[in-house]
Amino acid sequence: MGRLRVLHPCAVVAAAALLLGGCSEDSPSLLDGKGTESSRIAGLWWLMFAMAAVVYVVVAGFVLVAIARGRRRAPDGDDGGARDDVFIWVGGLALPVVVLSILGVVTVTTTRAVRPVASGAVQIEVIGERWWWDVSYPDENVRTANEIRVPVGQPVEVTLTSDNVAHSFWVPQLAGKVDLIPGQPNVLRFEATEAGTYRGECAEFCGIQHANMNFVVIAEEPQDFQRWLARRGSGAGTTPTDELAAQGQRVFQSQPCAGCHAIEGTAATGTIGPDLSDFGARQTIGALAVPNNPENLAEWITDSQEIKPGNLMPPIELSPDQVTQLVAYLEGLG
Ligand code: CUA
Repeated sequence: MGRLRVLHPCAVVAAAALLLGGCSEDSPSLLDGKGTESSRIAGLWWLMFAMAAVVYVVVAGFVLVAIARGRRRAPDGDDGGARDDVFIWVGGLALPVVVLSILGVVTVTTTRAVRPVASGAVQIEVIGERWWWDVSYPDENVRTANEIRVPVGQPVEVTLTSDNVAHSFWVPQLAGKVDLIPGQPNVLRFEATEAGTYRGECAEFCGIQHANMNFVVIAEEPQDFQRWLARRGSGAGTTPTDELAAQGQRVFQSQPCAGCHAIEGTAATGTIGPDLSDFGARQTIGALAVPNNPENLAEWITDSQEIKPGNLMPPIELSPDQVTQLVAYLEGLG
């Protein structure tokens, strides 16, 4: 029979690692961990991958040997029974027991080791909305949306819940997934080990804009984090700095905007939509739907359904001048 050509097993392993271990910002990988929990999960993943690879190579080797040798006639009086028994006992029973026992023990110890309770952890509350993330720091009375700031090297405790359908909070580079379930607060604890901006997403189908329910975790040095927290809690940066923005603030207050959105230090205290107190400092609009710039904001205000169909913000009747004023006001916040 013809010779079979197969890829060297090492090449297969290396290719798979490259595919799965991609670390571009657009497709974050848990194998590019930047947190205590993700590092442990990645270790477990590599152990599983290595053991599966060894089993695969051994089994594939036997298959290839069998194909190469072909069917042979056993000598008279030898039915191969004893040899077959060894294969069954070792390959069918002993090996799976050993492999699964090792994986079972390591999985249980890893699961027990992640999310340790830590005193003095930074408390954050996240509510899954349709289709964005309500974020608050209850100890400092700070509220924001879709961008979660955490200090590097300090434990963080995120309480996750939902007031509508189930969502799932997943930042692969920092920690595993945790569901947000109405009436059932779940807690995620982790510690970022490196400063950076880490992409997160909703990992549970939750409706028409599930795919656009994304967020970022911004891990920064503790002093920068404290500075941000103090500034946010003070309501700084919410006073219009020029006449156009001041007109925009009046539009915001007189139109339906203030009924749904809150802005610190103003009469706008709505809680249906995202808090906009630091809107101008945010990177994106609509939970990472589009970059935050004046053009996209003007389009969003005029008819957000064009950008994110099905989102719960209704179109608002405004004149072009009012839109310009609102954009100046909102982009100046933060
Ligand atoms: Cu929220 Cu999917």
